[in-house]
Amino acid sequence: MTRIAPSILSADFLHLEKDVEMVNQHADLFHLDIMDGTFVPNISYGFPVVEAIARKARKPLDVHLMIVHPEKYVERFAKAGASLISFHYEAAQENTAAVIECIQGQGVQAGVAINPDCPVQAIFPYLYQVDFVLIMSVFAGFGGQKFIPESLHRIRTVREELCRIGRPDVPIEVDGGIGPANAADIVGAGAQILVAGSSVFKAEDPAAAIAAMRI
Ligand code: DX5
Ligand code: ZN
Repeated sequence: MTRIAPSILSADFLHLEKDVEMVNQHADLFHLDIMDGTFVPNISYGFPVVEAIARKARKPLDVHLMIVHPEKYVERFAKAGASLISFHYEAAQENTAAVIECIQGQGVQAGVAINPDCPVQAIFPYLYQVDFVLIMSVFAGFGGQKFIPESLHRIRTVREELCRIGRPDVPIEVDGGIGPANAADIVGAGAQILVAGSSVFKAEDPAAAIAAMRI
């Protein structure tokens, strides 16, 4: 079944405990966006927020690093309670294999993330090694952007390659502009984890929005 990972970036930071409880009750993962103002033009939040969420979370923490030198921070995010950590291929480039090993060495599932303007073939060499793939369906950096329709083709291409190399069970996570209106298409293209920020936290009924995406 599809797993839904609400993006805490769109949560109410003045009432975070309420939103954490909502994710505990209705969703599958906490998606935590870490932005450094260098790899992406935005800055989000860091360790104090992740550690506070970890104290109340009953679902795994899925940390999405949008930072340069991700390897420097893997151990701290692992200690803060991450069960999954993804980092951007564009940030790591020729260090990608080493960063995956560094994450897995902490006993954490490793994911490679890729922005919409980078050919998906660039991450093919790492599909043998990763625990999951994160395909960005908007440019990393901000919540509330519109889903880029070409992402569906990119998801299909990565899914085909995973099947071709004999790793059909590796999940594909998709992030950006996802809501009840496009969830079925994204799952149909081959995704298993849907990240959703604004469509969950800005909804009248977040639990219903999550249920509508569980295809
Ligand atoms: C964007 C982040 C996303 C973002 C998703 O850089 O990686 O996780 O919070 O937000 P929505 O669902 O609003 O596009
Ligand atoms: Zn994200």
